[in-house]
Amino acid sequence: MKTTLLLLTLMTLIACTEGPESPKGFSLPEGDAAAGKTVFISYQCLSCHTLQGITDDSASQQIPNKVPLGGDVSKIKTYGELVTSVINPSHKIAPGFKRDSYTDDTGQSLMRNYNDLMTVNELVDLVAFLQPQYNLKPFNRTNYPQYFP
Ligand code: HEC
Repeated sequence: MKTTLLLLTLMTLIACTEGPESPKGFSLPEGDAAAGKTVFISYQCLSCHTLQGITDDSASQQIPNKVPLGGDVSKIKTYGELVTSVINPSHKIAPGFKRDSYTDDTGQSLMRNYNDLMTVNELVDLVAFLQPQYNLKPFNRTNYPQYFP
């Protein structure tokens, strides 16, 4: 019985990681972190966020408690989660944030949606800028390993 349960759990896990909706294999091309910083400032991310070492006096405060990005405080663990946070903020709201009213009445993130504004290149650069602020496990870049037949 225990073995069957274990097998079932394993199969479910495998199904989850390898299914058609699995993020496995997701990769953005290499971005330019300096350009990403410009994107970060120009989209006024600092009106709702703080990021160590970066200030922007022109960004008006849009939510009562700014959400810190980067460092140890973050809930973000992987490269995929970081990208998801930008293009699909409500996907997985960080647990502590629900209490802190970072969501609206319907549970959607208060984070602004940039999907109709931001170009893919801007996203790529933004992620290249943000990624080193976190201690992230990078997703496979498109560095194909040499293989010797
Ligand atoms: C109107 C306010 C607002 C703006 C503007 C905004 N965000 Fe957010 N952001 C939030 C809120 C609220 C959360 C927490 C809830 C959530 O995870 O969506 C969040 C969460 C995040 C997270 C996940 C944080 C974590 O550690 O879990 C990232 C990454 C992020 N934002 C990046 C950005 C970037 C990059 C920009 C600019 C392009 C931006 N945000 C602009 C409100 C905002």
